[in-house]
Amino acid sequence: MSTPPETTRLPDPVATGTGQHGSESRATTQDRASGDAALLRVTGLRKTYRLGRVDVPVLHGVDIEFGRGEWIAILGASGSGKSTLLHLIGGLDRPDKPGNGKPRATIRFNARDVASFSHAELDRYRCRDVGFVFQFYHLLPELTVTDNVLLGAMIRHGRFGYMAKRADLRKAAADLLGAFGLKSRLRHKPSQLSGGERQRVAIARALINDPTLLLADEPTGNLDRKTGAAILDVLAEIRRERGQTMLMVTHDPEIAARADRIVELVDGRVVEASG
Ligand SMILES: Nc1ncnc2c1ncn2[C@@H]1O[C@H](COP(=O)(O)OP(=O)(O)O)[C@@H](O)[C@H]1O
Ligand SMILES: [Mg+2]
Repeated sequence: MSTPPETTRLPDPVATGTGQHGSESRATTQDRASGDAALLRVTGLRKTYRLGRVDVPVLHGVDIEFGRGEWIAILGASGSGKSTLLHLIGGLDRPDKPGNGKPRATIRFNARDVASFSHAELDRYRCRDVGFVFQFYHLLPELTVTDNVLLGAMIRHGRFGYMAKRADLRKAAADLLGAFGLKSRLRHKPSQLSGGERQRVAIARALINDPTLLLADEPTGNLDRKTGAAILDVLAEIRRERGQTMLMVTHDPEIAARADRIVELVDGRVVEASG
C-alpha cells in the first residue's frame, strides 16, 4: 500500500475554539509570562510494575525536556520502557508514588504537573492536549473510517457540543483523511483496509482535536519500510504546519534520523543520542 496522498493541501486545525481552559491554546498567557521554551519537563520519573510479589522496575528516574514544536525520536532496546514512558507522559498510566527516599516525579506540561492531575484533569488532558498513535492502530471495527476519526472529537466536545460542530468536524475529518490519501475510504470499515491505511486512519484520529503533543509509539513499526515512510512524510508535514511537538518511539535509526533530536532509553534512564 503506497498510494501517494491525494492532496498536499493540509486541513486546518478544527474547532480549537477560544476555550476556557488554560491547556486549550498552544501558548497560554502563563507560558508567555514565564518565557518557558519547554512544552514538557519530566523529572525523576520512575515506574515499577508489580507482577504478583515481584517488583519489575522499568524507569529509574527519567529527566528530560521537550521543546515546543520539536520532533523527538525515542530509541531503545525492546523492553527498555519506551512505551511505558509514553504512557506516563500521555497520562495513560501513573508514575510510582514517592517513598523510600525517592522524590515525587513531575511531568510538567505547560507548567502544570500531569503526575498530580485528578481523574477529571487527566481526561481533559488526554482528549485535548495529547494525540496518541499506537503501533497496532486500535481502531473500533464496527465504526466507519470517518467515525473512528470523529470519536475523539465526540468525547472532547460532548454530545451537544459535537452536534453543534458536527458539519465542521466531519469536514475536518474528511480533509485529514484526504491528506492521508483516504478520500475514497471514508465509509469503509477498518477490516476493509490494509495495515498502512489503518494506521493513516489512526493518525487522523490522533490529529482531529489538534493536540499540542503527539505521542506516537512505533507508528510504522508494523508496516513495510516504503509504506511507513510515505505515512511519515504526511505526518511530518502536518505536524510541522501545526507546530506540534511529537515524541515518536521507534527502533529504526533511519526513522529516528528524521527527527530534530534523538534520545535513547538505557537502563531505565534517558540518554541524549545526538544533537
Ligand atoms: N502492564 C505491565 N505489567 C507488568 N510489566 C509490564 C507492563 N507493561 C510493561 N511491562 C514490562 O516493562 C518493561 C518495559 O516495557 P515497555 O515499556 O513496553 O518496553 P518497550 O516499549 O521499550 O519495548 C518490559 O519488561 C515489560 O515486560
Ligand atoms: Mg513498546
